[in-house]
Amino acid sequence: MKAAYLDRKAGAEALIVGDLAKPSPKVGEVLVRVHAAAITPSELEWYPSFHLASGAARPFPIVPGHEFSGVIEALGADAAGFQLGDEVYGLNDWFANGAHAEYVVAPVAMLAHKPAELDHAHAAAVPISVLTAWQALFEKARLLHGERILIHGAAGGVGQFAVQMAKGLGAHVIASVSGACREFVQSLGADEVIDYHTTRFEEAVSDIDVVFDAVGGETLERSWRVLRQGGRIVTFAASSAGSAEPRVHDAFLLVRADGTQLAEIARRLDAGELRVRIAGAIPLDQVHQAWRPTPSGCRLGKTVLQIIQP
Ligand SMILES: NC(=O)c1ccc[n+]([C@@H]2O[C@H](COP(=O)([O-])OP(=O)(O)OC[C@H]3O[C@@H](n4cnc5c(N)ncnc54)[C@H](OP(=O)(O)O)[C@@H]3O)[C@@H](O)[C@H]2O)c1
Repeated sequence: MKAAYLDRKAGAEALIVGDLAKPSPKVGEVLVRVHAAAITPSELEWYPSFHLASGAARPFPIVPGHEFSGVIEALGADAAGFQLGDEVYGLNDWFANGAHAEYVVAPVAMLAHKPAELDHAHAAAVPISVLTAWQALFEKARLLHGERILIHGAAGGVGQFAVQMAKGLGAHVIASVSGACREFVQSLGADEVIDYHTTRFEEAVSDIDVVFDAVGGETLERSWRVLRQGGRIVTFAASSAGSAEPRVHDAFLLVRADGTQLAEIARRLDAGELRVRIAGAIPLDQVHQAWRPTPSGCRLGKTVLQIIQP
């Protein structure tokens, strides 16, 4: 099969497009013919990208891209809930080869049927971001109707879902974004917008119930002072992972694959209760362009590798 892969520990500039052996599904897994897979820019900095769960080094070639949309082509034993030809979207094991390839294997528990109203490119950009937003808002922060939430990075991959879900719950949403993204986040439901380039958020807001942090670093550090007493912070930013500071450690969320949540999210996408934007869809043989940072301005979501042209 055609795939984009690394043959050594390196960044995306070293990705090779070539032929690899097609994987086979094991117990509880399916083989998916990938139609589209999203780019997560920080992925090659994650521990599982170059390690196995045991801590040993992962063998090369390594294929990135752990969220995708496609069609089931083969079923492993005990792969209940899906049939050959089903359109699915979801994630696969972080420690296994990903979906920047014509085929990927994935556990059925990490998949759901693709939202019927979305094409594969848009569906592929949903799983990691939407599950992070869902688990951060509803499981970790336990956001309630009527609460005031400050969302750092509200126009990003995760933030755009957080704005919509928080608004859908009846929260008062304050979005912190680049000024170029003001109208975009307002269209998603933001009640107030802070341009982080021109305004220090702690001078604009206080008594916040929940801070939703997609940025980390000094943005997170400055966020504690805007909380009301008893307010909560959830952070999932790459820079917050592994923090030795107890309150950051406690606020940190690591997303988990959850097919049941993806099924409910597909329903909301099909009903128009949630929307997804992508920055663009780029063919597999232009993988380096797809991984390149996009120019400044409001980026409106993730870039997707289009493995099969629609
Ligand atoms: N722990 C987990 O399980 C998990 C899961 C998903 C993602 N992540 C991590 O979470 C982070 C966000 O992911 P993402 O996919 O949403 O990234 P993204 O699409 O790059 O979005 C980040 C957004 O933050 C904005 N931003 C940058 N600095 C800011 C600041 N000081 N104040 C307000 N907004 C600011 C960026 O806007 P500009 O481009 O205009 O600067 C961008 O829109 C990444 O570090 C990612 O690795 C972790």
